[in-house]
Amino acid sequence: MSIQSIRPENEGLNIFWDDGSSSCFPWLWIRDHSESKVDLHPDSKQRQIDVFSETPDNSINKAIIDQNKKNVMVKWVDQSESCISFDLLESLASTSSPSAQALANDSCWNSSHEIKEFPEMSFDDFMSDHGLKKWLGHIHRNGFVLVSGAPASSDTTQELMERMAYVRNSIFGGFSVWDNKLDNPDDTAFTSLAIEPHTDGTYVHDAPGLQTLHCLQKDSVGGESQLVDGLAIAEKMRVEYPDYFKILSSINIPGRYIKDGIYLEAKRPLIRVNDNNEVVQISFNNHDRAPFRLDNDLMSQFYEAYKVFHNLANDKSRQFQFILEPGKVLTFDNWRVLHARSSLTGYRQLCGGYHNREDFESKLRLI
Ligand code: OGA
Ligand code: ZN
Repeated sequence: MSIQSIRPENEGLNIFWDDGSSSCFPWLWIRDHSESKVDLHPDSKQRQIDVFSETPDNSINKAIIDQNKKNVMVKWVDQSESCISFDLLESLASTSSPSAQALANDSCWNSSHEIKEFPEMSFDDFMSDHGLKKWLGHIHRNGFVLVSGAPASSDTTQELMERMAYVRNSIFGGFSVWDNKLDNPDDTAFTSLAIEPHTDGTYVHDAPGLQTLHCLQKDSVGGESQLVDGLAIAEKMRVEYPDYFKILSSINIPGRYIKDGIYLEAKRPLIRVNDNNEVVQISFNNHDRAPFRLDNDLMSQFYEAYKVFHNLANDKSRQFQFILEPGKVLTFDNWRVLHARSSLTGYRQLCGGYHNREDFESKLRLI
């Protein structure tokens, strides 16, 4: 779509597009969105124009199209000028309320056989020029990626993570190395117990976006890892159990983390949706669920709905099962894919950490 002509009207600047449609941008909006050097800092891209402290006089002298610079210029009676690029006008030609970014639901998997291109790449491939882009693409489409043939060292794993972005800090520290032989484990992570399918950080307001795990040493039996596509479960429930989908996308479930001197709690629906009812985030951790009580009827409906999700997540046929081994680095989308671990005997040492969601989205946008 491109601009055919413009016409100033009382309420704003009417832009006529070459497909026959038109959009009227209000004068105040044009002032506020001006991208001139004075109005939008050319380096930081931060807004300098303030349309609130003084009410601007929005009478115009003229509005012109600059085909060379691909801008629309508005010269105001007060001698100031606003300038907006064709790109911005085109991208906002229709109105919509900003809503949280939905997960890509065109490639959900109900079993590992449904994954079209298996998301595994070699360490050398990852380190090559287009490696990060490929790696991000795997996570975006399938919710996880495995990097094989990596040196079994914590330093290399940290470098791998930092190729994406800085490692996020959390209650567990930043990039960390841990094993299952702590004297006083303060989380199941540091034991040999089984852990049901879950997402990490149901007790923090902003759950980690990505999680990376690399097993550095392994002298154990069991401890298999499982991944389940939580988005696929949500989409299945939307169709097959619409009432339960509504319950799980509207009732806030509290998650908690209680240890010596720490009491974290956050609440959000298991299936977080945006204004368009698209799935934005899955948060599910039955181990970390905090007590709450609804009216008896609603509570029993909640249990039914939660049970359906829980049982689908625990259905082996939906899970991709594999063993985390030295040299194989797993990264998954913690807002989409649930992870689990079988119990084990013996010794296992892992390293890894988290990335923030916005840093993942930023890289996806730019790379
Ligand atoms: C966890 C976890 C996976 C593993 O601690 O939350 O999922 O393989 N650990 O130990
Ligand atoms: Zn976990």
